[in-house]
Amino acid sequence: MPLIAIIPGDGIGPEVMAQARRVLEYYRSERNFPLDLWDLDLGAERFLRDGTTLPKEVADRIRNEASAVLLGALGDPRVPSNEHARDILFGLRFGFDLYANMRPVKALADRLVPLKNRTAKDVNMMVFRENTEGIYVNVGGQFKKGTPDEIAINEDVNTRKGVERLIRAGFEYAKAHGKKTVHMADKSNAMKHAHELWYRCFFEVAKEYPGIAAKHLYVDALCLFMVQDPTPFEVIVTNNLFGDIVTDLGAALQGGLGMAASANVHYADPKRLAMFEPVHGSAPPLVGKDLANPLASFMTVGMMLAHLGWKEEEARIERICAEAIETGNCTPDVGGTKGTKAVSDWFVDRLKG
Ligand code: NAD
Ligand code: IPM
Ligand code: MN
Repeated sequence: MPLIAIIPGDGIGPEVMAQARRVLEYYRSERNFPLDLWDLDLGAERFLRDGTTLPKEVADRIRNEASAVLLGALGDPRVPSNEHARDILFGLRFGFDLYANMRPVKALADRLVPLKNRTAKDVNMMVFRENTEGIYVNVGGQFKKGTPDEIAINEDVNTRKGVERLIRAGFEYAKAHGKKTVHMADKSNAMKHAHELWYRCFFEVAKEYPGIAAKHLYVDALCLFMVQDPTPFEVIVTNNLFGDIVTDLGAALQGGLGMAASANVHYADPKRLAMFEPVHGSAPPLVGKDLANPLASFMTVGMMLAHLGWKEEEARIERICAEAIETGNCTPDVGGTKGTKAVSDWFVDRLKG
């Protein structure tokens, strides 16, 4: 029976995860999906209580027993260093070698698209964000700290294997989903070592996929074009940092962070443990106000169910999310007047219906 480790985390994380858990409970108890849920007390509260971030025995049990991790968000103003968030998030992404962070940018309704003369059909792409290396590895250091001569260095570490497998995942996805184009975004004009590797590797891998057009863009231009005209973008592959930034921009095209889901996977082996999280963070200004949009978390559950083999449920969850937007059963960030809990009540009722 698939074991799902649930980490609600911080801020609105526990608020949306409580609702995502109800969706999972529906599948478990009313649809008899063989799911075992394991709630983990990890996040800022725990860190402030006893200094724990991601203990080895928990990581080991996840590795040995879990099929998926479902994570809310991590980040709390009481932990300004963000130490616990990095330990847990990167502990899972790097530790389980979840090298492809798949972030769909798909608008579910015309009115969610903020661009002039554009509709939902114009916004439909999958971003593959490299998730295990790049500038996120925190290689570097601070020197002469606190002096006028201070130097702070973060190295951008890119390996041939790491870059190639992420690019390959993008092409494999394009092939499997009938997509015609893969775009790659880098800054090879400025960052001559690391990003030249991306550039070269991209066109080498592309040769293996003759039916798919391979197009290179500098990431600054990609941001411009995504806003001017998102229609040419089907699959985007990029590094860890640019993928983070481009997908918040992408979230804006689909109605905001409350609508953006993601999966962290070891793409080459779908049987391996994967981690699922909404793209948004802990949104401190929304905490405790019943304002957090739970739809991103529901679509994240959809991605998780698809990964576990229940593909049709992902489509069903997405359809009901679209209906929530169309019928106004949604939170204020997407033009509704309902609270987190009321949206979820409606959603679970629709799932049952
Ligand atoms: P954020 O994503 O938490 O929120 C930015 C803004 O987006 C919010 O103020 C809110 O207006 C809106 N928003 C986000 N999620 C929403 C939702 N579900 N419903 C409605 N509106 C929503 O980004 P931030 O403010 O830059 O970061 C806050 C904290 O979260 C920081 O500590 C940051 O490091 C962390 N963070 C964590 C993750 C993660 O755990 N994966 C992701 C992003 C940010
Ligand atoms: C995300 C977040 C994280 C990231 C932060 C919290 C480290 O922004 O998951 O998008 O940059 O990966
Ligand atoms: Mn982010």
